Amino acid sequence: MHSLDEFATDKLGELDRASLRRTLAETARIDGIWALRGGRRLLSFSCNDYLNLSHHPAVKAAAIQALRQYGVGSGASRLVTGNHPLFAGLEARLARLKETQAACVFGSGYLANIGIVPALVGRDDLVLIDELAHACLWAGARLARATVIPFRHCDLAHAATLLDEHRRRHGRALIATDGVFSMDGDLAPLNELSALAQRFDAWLMSDDAHGIGVVGNGRGSTFAHGAKADVPLQMGTLSKAIGAYGGYLCASQAVIDLVRNRARSFIYSTGLPPAIVAAATAALDLIEQEPAYAALPLAKARSFTRRLGLPEAESPIVPLIIGDAEAALQAARLLDEEGILVVAIRPPTVPAGTSRLRFAFTARHPDAEIERLADIVRSRILTSQPAGRAESVR
Ligand SMILES: Cc1ncc(COP(=O)(O)O)c(C=O)c1O
Repeated sequence: MHSLDEFATDKLGELDRASLRRTLAETARIDGIWALRGGRRLLSFSCNDYLNLSHHPAVKAAAIQALRQYGVGSGASRLVTGNHPLFAGLEARLARLKETQAACVFGSGYLANIGIVPALVGRDDLVLIDELAHACLWAGARLARATVIPFRHCDLAHAATLLDEHRRRHGRALIATDGVFSMDGDLAPLNELSALAQRFDAWLMSDDAHGIGVVGNGRGSTFAHGAKADVPLQMGTLSKAIGAYGGYLCASQAVIDLVRNRARSFIYSTGLPPAIVAAATAALDLIEQEPAYAALPLAKARSFTRRLGLPEAESPIVPLIIGDAEAALQAARLLDEEGILVVAIRPPTVPAGTSRLRFAFTARHPDAEIERLADIVRSRILTSQPAGRAESVR
């Protein structure tokens, strides 16, 4: 048998040979858009702080005030003594934004997904999941021990065929999808999925991590398709456009009460720190008060896709598929030489052969810098790709 260190070294060698090894790069985000790395100041297009609220004076002031009043940590699970007075305000705010009866705040988006799904479905049940749904939605489905069947990305006909074939063999059924896909930036067809859910007696759950704050007038992907889509389980995170940290579920009061009783990642994990909860609440206030500001990241992403002739952005996320992992790393290095930070996204975060640059646009990216970025991408990346490779996925 291999020693533990030999095992780790062998595995790391495999990752190195495939250009898939990851390392941590110290990054000091000095405001919403600039970052210090290796002593250099880079303009970052690789951050999910789409509204730059992590550095907003009102958000920071709310966090500082809460820290002074309630201390740093919350001290226990929310069901013990960690349920400080700021949670109720945040949950009411989230429920109002998403038009649900209630909301439940978790320690993170990842914790939310791995808690919610097993609280609702189990061994005899079915989870039908978009193949490109986020890793933590997949993790929740697997933890539930349900039968987990992926459907092709946003392919309604495929989802219907699978439901037709499998639904009757299971008690409960859940259809799970991202609302905005984290690595592709496209929107799930929530109205159509909702109709499928009704037809096959299934529940629909959307992960709106990348939708809240930036699509649907800041209210997220359930509001981005005209009238509000009928999604009884709206999950999301407070760690991206909200600029803070934490996850949530917005749903009916009965579902929220059940989740608080059954989601193990809620029950057996310490409540979020007061400063974080206060910051998230202040950020939601700003989003509600300033819909024009919330519209900026999408507008900026669209100016980028227009300038490059790519399909119009549906969210602040724009992927440029390079294909090979080493080539994607090389493309990121070219941008780095120009003072631009865009991290290459490689498997297993994305499917093999679809390594990419993932551009994330934020409210405060100057228009001139977006034009410069597009021109650099055109002259240094698109021209160096083998024919047919660098492309937007849509
Ligand atoms: C679609 C999606 N869901 C969930 C998460 C997890 O959220 P958090 O970072 O709050 O754990 C992420 C973040 O990476 C995400 O992109």
